[in-house]
Amino acid sequence: MSAAPIKVCAVADLSVDQGLRVTSVSPPLAIFLTSDGTVHVLDDMCTHQNAALTDGWVDDCIVECPLHMSRFDLRTGEVDASPALLPVRVHRAEIVDGEVWVTLSEQAPNLPPGVRVHS
Ligand code: FES
Repeated sequence: MSAAPIKVCAVADLSVDQGLRVTSVSPPLAIFLTSDGTVHVLDDMCTHQNAALTDGWVDDCIVECPLHMSRFDLRTGEVDASPALLPVRVHRAEIVDGEVWVTLSEQAPNLPPGVRVHS
């Protein structure tokens, strides 16, 4: 059975290609709105070291880590530029009446070395 969706923000809280960090879960979530109106949700943590992807740069559905510039696909979490090797975990997002609801992935997060999160 999958986890119940949680409400994380309103769509109106989001700006296109600007990440919004949500800290009510651990690891925090990175919420991104892309220019086609799609909301993407990933763990807000690079898999290389402890850097927030919401501090990175978004272009064409790709976020670039602010620390060493690995790039992650917002749709899949897949990495396409080193030094990061592992994908970022993605979560399912739905928009209902202008609110963003997230169903957290049941997969374990790909945390960078030395980082622990609360469960
Ligand atoms: S911390 Fe993201 S690429 Fe190094």
